[in-house]
Amino acid sequence: MPTYSFQFEKINLGDLAPSISQALVLAKAACEKAYAPYSHFKVGSALLLDDGTYIVGSNHENAAYPAGICAERAALSSLDMSDHQRKVEAIVITYQSESEMKDPLSPCGICRQSIAEIQHWQKAPIAIYMCSPLDEIIKVADAKHLLPFGFNNDYLKMD
Ligand code: THU
Repeated sequence: MPTYSFQFEKINLGDLAPSISQALVLAKAACEKAYAPYSHFKVGSALLLDDGTYIVGSNHENAAYPAGICAERAALSSLDMSDHQRKVEAIVITYQSESEMKDPLSPCGICRQSIAEIQHWQKAPIAIYMCSPLDEIIKVADAKHLLPFGFNNDYLKMD
């Protein structure tokens, strides 16, 4: 039977690379700016680009619930897709919530698909750092592992 497996890392806060540590600081700050009056689940994300710059995003909810957007896609939507020079090296995600559950934040399915789109476009892996309010950190070195058998534009006829 074919199987699929991948490795992930649990990383202590103090062992993060400085650029990722800074991304986590920015993601936490973005979390504070989240607009989450319905779920009270505030999410912040930070993209680390390969020129050392960052793009942040937070979740913005809507009274018409499906109109809200997740923090990951808010950040990804600010990426300049006409700029083939800058690639996303990593995305760092964290949250604040009133729930008892404090596990590292696992991106939702739509965000996994959006991350996969960028990764496919830039032809270089995006590392995902899933963080918790208690600073537990899980690193997946390649976003493809979070969306096995994913759909991408290779299936489409493109001009
Ligand atoms: N949310 C994110 O921003 N990212 C995720 O990966 C999971 C969920 C947001 C969407 C909604 O505003 C709130 O968290 C509760 O689902």
